[in-house]
Amino acid sequence: MRLDILTVVPKLLESPFSHSILKRAKEKGLVEIHIHNIRDYTTTKHKSVDDYAFGGGAGMVMMIEPVVACIEHLKSERSYDEIIFMTPDGTLLDQPMANKYSLSKNIIVLCGHYKGIDERIRQHFITREISIGNYVLSGGELAAAVFVDAIVRLLPGVLNDETSALSDSFQDNLLAPPVYTRPAEFREMKVPEILLSGNTPEVEKWRHEQAVERTRQRRPDLLKE
Ligand code: 6GU
Repeated sequence: MRLDILTVVPKLLESPFSHSILKRAKEKGLVEIHIHNIRDYTTTKHKSVDDYAFGGGAGMVMMIEPVVACIEHLKSERSYDEIIFMTPDGTLLDQPMANKYSLSKNIIVLCGHYKGIDERIRQHFITREISIGNYVLSGGELAAAVFVDAIVRLLPGVLNDETSALSDSFQDNLLAPPVYTRPAEFREMKVPEILLSGNTPEVEKWRHEQAVERTRQRRPDLLKE
């Protein structure tokens, strides 16, 4: 998989892909993540990437020319499955969407900033708009990092134990059950006996019951789906 992320603040995206699971995925050659500074695609003297909104009002708007120059440069080199715009008014990201996008080959992810981006970019170049939740972030970069993490960890070979993504919360509309590690007793707080029993079928049964109970208490909406 190849991901091309377009931003006016590339520094915001340096760290999230340089550690832990995403770092390993890159090192294993399972994903290529390219960060593009939209400012590198400006043609004006002052390298502007934003301008005042037509009609007035507070807030700057991301200009169409540098964004389109960057998108067209990338599209001239390969074809893309999706050109995604991260925006709070997009479709809410969930696990089935992450599963779907993890099957893509090439994706462009555009991060918005300022008051918004020129609507013509959205109408004519963007194929999907994605939000990560019902709250507003300062820009699309942190949301893009969330989206990329959610899809890259699903690529075959990224997780150590390949089945472990299958037992994630949400893969079966259930939250994950509680987990414990050594010591078996800490200040009189004991690990549930069943987990020390070595009886795998019973442990699996317990975990499923715990997952159902936790979901019923915390996210009953998931059980209705
Ligand atoms: Cl994708 N962008 C911004 N700026 N805010 C958000 C978001 C995206 N998703 C939720 N809030």
